[in-house]
Amino acid sequence: MSQRIRGVKGTRDVLPSDTYAKDDDPWLRIGHYHLVEQSARDLFPLYGYREARTPVLERTDLFVRGIGEVTDIVGKEMYTFDDRGESVTLRQENTASLVRAYVEHSVSQHEPETKWWYVGPMFRRERQQRGRYRQFTQIGIEAFGSPGPRIDAEQIELLDRWLRALGIPFEMHLNTLGDANCRPRYREALQTYLRSRAKDLCEDCGRRIETNPIRVLDCKNPKCQEVAAGAPRMDQFLCDACKAHFAGVQESLQRLGVAFVLDPKLVRGLDYYTRTTYEAIATSGLGAQSTVAGGGRYDGLVKDLGGPDVPGIGFAAGVERMALLLARQGKEAAAKPVVFIAPLGDAEAARADQLAQELRAAGLSAEVSFRKSNPANQLKRADALGARFALVLGDQELKADRARLKELKTGAQHEVSLRGFADEVRRLLEKAP
Ligand code: HAM
Repeated sequence: MSQRIRGVKGTRDVLPSDTYAKDDDPWLRIGHYHLVEQSARDLFPLYGYREARTPVLERTDLFVRGIGEVTDIVGKEMYTFDDRGESVTLRQENTASLVRAYVEHSVSQHEPETKWWYVGPMFRRERQQRGRYRQFTQIGIEAFGSPGPRIDAEQIELLDRWLRALGIPFEMHLNTLGDANCRPRYREALQTYLRSRAKDLCEDCGRRIETNPIRVLDCKNPKCQEVAAGAPRMDQFLCDACKAHFAGVQESLQRLGVAFVLDPKLVRGLDYYTRTTYEAIATSGLGAQSTVAGGGRYDGLVKDLGGPDVPGIGFAAGVERMALLLARQGKEAAAKPVVFIAPLGDAEAARADQLAQELRAAGLSAEVSFRKSNPANQLKRADALGARFALVLGDQELKADRARLKELKTGAQHEVSLRGFADEVRRLLEKAP
């Protein structure tokens, strides 16, 4: 036998059925993905977001300049390769890509305010664990051109509504990181403090003192957390404009009835953030990787990537993490056939194909059995597929052009004509949807 080829570490297959699962981690089914994605498709346009799709492959420079050279994401986790003299990278997130597209297509010249949403795979070479993969899926939104705090609150309310609608248990965390005016002073004060505690920090944080001191605040190492607890706080350094913005966000959230927790440690892993940052953190069910969605404002990024001085804000949610939470709750958007048709002989098979075609043309899902088997086994199969009705088609039914349609859940039998079959099925569905 030839040797098997296994999937790449950190990637996972999402299959229609969970019956192949070998571990006790809830198995992700495609139905969970659909539930998450469909709810976003329904909700996001209500807030004016339109879908944008950008390539998974971008020039490496985009991420180095966009996300920041000293971040873990760029420093350690990029899938980069040489494409005949040009360095390209599999996208690790989509904000930098959407900003690139926004600038490249001069969108700001046509629209003063732009709202885009997206869904797609992202790639980070991280250590694999539950809820953390090397290929994962994000659904996110980005809004360009709105400097005031009301858009911040609107986005947070959207995220809150979305997660609630799906029944995901979470807490909304909120922070501000200041801006180019006030953050440098804070950074300096933080560095001075961290240098004095350098010997108590982990190796990574020792390095971060000089490169990215703010990241020390959210290191998971208990010793670093102890140091972080005594560190100066950003809110002591905010300039008046940043203070007013943050107060505005909180007021709007209160007006909109969104609960939140102020969290000075919420510093995020990407360099482009200014002012508001927010994260939805699962209160149970995810273990260490508990951040379901995160985002914030990035007022300088469009300009830094060669565009006009247009502010931006957005968030991205991890679809696998949301799907894991839905799997735990047993929720799934299942695609089940309305009618399962089991022909007993060759003549009946041809008629079964025709009936299925009629049903599908009428927008009803149908599955035809391609196996020869007795009626009892066919009914078992229909049941396993979760079909609503089963039709066993024999010689008698063919001659009379009438049959009995079995409703699988209740066991009820419905006499129906096979002429105008789709209408008959629809009538039954209308009676008891
Ligand atoms: P991020 O916090 O890096 O932000 O990622 C957002 C979400 O993606 C995380 O909260 C998590 O649910 C999911 N995620 C991240 N890495 C992994 C992974 N290795 N495996 C599974 N899920 C993962 C961003 O990417 C920003 N672009 C968000 C944003 C949009 N900020 C402004 N606009």
